[in-house]
Amino acid sequence: MIQTILLKKRPKGKPTLSDFEFLKEEKDLNIKEGELLLETTYISVDPYLRGRMSDAKSYVPPFEVGKPITSGIVAKVIASKNSKFKEGDFVSGMMDWKTLQISKGEGLLKVDKDLAPLSAYLGILGMTGLTAYCGLTQIGQPKAKETLVVSGAAGAVGSVVGQIGKILGLYVVGIAGTDEKVEMLTSQFGFDHAINYNTTKDMGTALKTACPKGIDIYFDNVGGPISDAVLFNINKYARMIICGAISVYNNTEIPKSISVQPFLVKNSALMQGFIVSNYSEKFPEAMKNLSTWLAEGKLNYTETVVNGFENTPQAFLDLFEGKNKGKMIVKV
Ligand SMILES: NC(=O)c1ccc[n+]([C@@H]2O[C@H](COP(=O)([O-])OP(=O)(O)OC[C@H]3O[C@@H](n4cnc5c(N)ncnc54)[C@H](OP(=O)(O)O)[C@@H]3O)[C@@H](O)[C@H]2O)c1
Repeated sequence: MIQTILLKKRPKGKPTLSDFEFLKEEKDLNIKEGELLLETTYISVDPYLRGRMSDAKSYVPPFEVGKPITSGIVAKVIASKNSKFKEGDFVSGMMDWKTLQISKGEGLLKVDKDLAPLSAYLGILGMTGLTAYCGLTQIGQPKAKETLVVSGAAGAVGSVVGQIGKILGLYVVGIAGTDEKVEMLTSQFGFDHAINYNTTKDMGTALKTACPKGIDIYFDNVGGPISDAVLFNINKYARMIICGAISVYNNTEIPKSISVQPFLVKNSALMQGFIVSNYSEKFPEAMKNLSTWLAEGKLNYTETVVNGFENTPQAFLDLFEGKNKGKMIVKV
């Protein structure tokens, strides 16, 4: 039997389980010359999928209503008529939310389960690790002893950004949503300081205290009021790396924010958004450094693994409730 998860309707505001539909089909999947039969092992659920569920113009086309959702997946090759892949190989790439599917192998990468656990290819050695590395190094231009602040710091991207910051000799402050996450950032990931934005009344003052030399680099995963508070504490020539804005992804109206221009002018500061694929030429360097640091024990990672294909939509929804620590992954 093949199970598929489709987009049933475009979410209005915060997505709900009723926006997804499950399909079960009994059919034989016969592969033709050049094709592979893939069995899904791990599914990545990511905040950016929310953007693809709406039909607003973006950097990737929206999902179609009535069609499968796609995301990063690690799958096992269970039959192959493609000379590049053999039965028993594991591959990663963008695939449909299906338990079984046929592929022509385009865009798939072979992954080695002896080098790293398979789920790591969806996180630290996958898209979120590359995002952390490329955003911080290419836009952040970090210099030792500078102060880096990371929002969404206990998530897949943020936890890696902070650790790379430490490897590069920065003073690192993380912002996250629970005391448990804040504790994890300092004890497990080596951040110098961490702030729980849910229990801190005045984020501006908390940042000022946590960053006595001001903020040189801000890696922003969340947007909204947290990022507004950062602006009041930036230094001359600060670099603000705009990676994501999860706090406003479910807004139904244009969010109100403070005017950034005076802060940028006064501090000769830079604010730049990016999409990880902008830096594809840097991926080999990023993968080399990330895997070396991982092997040397300089880089750590954590995952929240949800069991069961049928729980994929709920795992996605839980990202907006902060239920994950590190990368949110579904084990099929
Ligand atoms: N530009 C790119 O190419 C690129 C690539 C990958 C990801 N991204 C973006 O990077 C960001 C992080 O992605 P990720 O995969 O690492 O996700 P993640 O951080 O692992 O998971 C999402 C986290 O966001 C936090 N959050 C949820 N609602 C929030 C709110 N209203 N205010 C503040 N924090 C909130 C939650 O943590 P708390 O408990 O701390 O609130 C939650 O655990 C997202 O915005 C994503 O879209 C961009």
